[in-house]
Amino acid sequence: MTVDTAIRIDTDKTVLDVIKDTTQEGLEDPFYVVDLGDIVYKYHLWKDLLPRAHPYYAVKCNDCPVVLELLAALGAGFDCASKREIDAVLKSGATSSSVIYANPCKTSSFITYAASVGVNVMTFDNELELHKIKKLFSQAKMVLRIRVDDSKSICQLGVKFGCDEQHVPSLLRVAKDLDLNVIGVSFHVGSGCQDAHAYALALETSARVFTLAKILGFDFTFLDIGGGFPGFKEDAIRFKEISSVINEKLDRYFPITSGVEIIAEPGRYFTASAFTLCTNIIAKRELSFPNEDTMYYVNDGLYGSFNCLIFDHAVITPLAYQMKTSAEDKLQKSSIWGPTCDGMDCILKSCYLPPLNIGDWILFENMGAYTISAASNFNGFEKPILKFILSSSYEVSLPFFKKIVKEQHN
Ligand SMILES: Cc1ncc(COP(=O)(O)O)c(C=O)c1O
Repeated sequence: MTVDTAIRIDTDKTVLDVIKDTTQEGLEDPFYVVDLGDIVYKYHLWKDLLPRAHPYYAVKCNDCPVVLELLAALGAGFDCASKREIDAVLKSGATSSSVIYANPCKTSSFITYAASVGVNVMTFDNELELHKIKKLFSQAKMVLRIRVDDSKSICQLGVKFGCDEQHVPSLLRVAKDLDLNVIGVSFHVGSGCQDAHAYALALETSARVFTLAKILGFDFTFLDIGGGFPGFKEDAIRFKEISSVINEKLDRYFPITSGVEIIAEPGRYFTASAFTLCTNIIAKRELSFPNEDTMYYVNDGLYGSFNCLIFDHAVITPLAYQMKTSAEDKLQKSSIWGPTCDGMDCILKSCYLPPLNIGDWILFENMGAYTISAASNFNGFEKPILKFILSSSYEVSLPFFKKIVKEQHN
């Protein structure tokens, strides 16, 4: 079944079906196949494994409006870092009470804007931010972002954000003097966290900060355990391990009876595996000596989706999709390049691929996080378009999809 509305969702297609259709239509532009069913699956998995920490999706990771609408329909909250992200989330159908403005160093006009649309919960980690909030939005519900050990994560955030535990008392005293409403603690163990123990340590530190706050006359009721959760197709076991460590520590330090509201800010967890990038080979250079690599030029690169190689330290694996294959095809040492005129625009310096031709496709799975959200149009190359599919097990099982199907029939 194919559902057509403002967006089209193919409910009976796989990634390879979409490539076949695209090739038959004679199209060559790069595109993503987005499996919305994978996001639904992730949401349910989260609710099963980490039921006490309500997910607030980190919009920075991938701000695709359909993804935001889907997550809003599922009941997720949102972590926004700017006015534009807040706008996008409110447009998706989410309410302002399901948003946390989770940027400890905020633009003044964005604070005023957040106040005007009812986004009341926001993080801070330094004294001047408290003075700014006092002036612009003194009724805000403030969440203290603490610095925790992020040494086991691929992208470390502690170099830029977080108040050290030893500085918490003086910062909270300033908040008290300014009569600001500090409601709790947030942390981030770093994006791409490789070690479940990092969450355990961060939760222990959070518990100590709750105790300190009580001594200083605050009554904390809010805990935000941040992001860092894995999002690749192969990562389910690590997510299970992380959630069991978190559940144990939450039960010990923040039991249900404490009444503390707990949220998390997962980004890549929700989107990484749902997006498969399909790039087309637009040019090829066969070098003249037997040991030289074959160079493939594809139509997305470092200035586009593959900015993740620089900013997100991503590790990628190419999958070849040939229109014509032969039993004699042997893997060849190859390199893959982006479409721009910059020599730095190299996606993979060395990999093994079967012999491919201009017009064949090279696929990259797990490309939904920190890819298109930071892509540019440098050199005039368009960003890939999105083609949506829905794994059949979730067909029309949600209000979101029901709405789309209803619109189709009306
Ligand atoms: C404040 C904040 N929350 C959440 C996230 C999402 O992290 P992840 O994608 O690792 O879950 C980030 C990522 O940088 C962040 O800075």
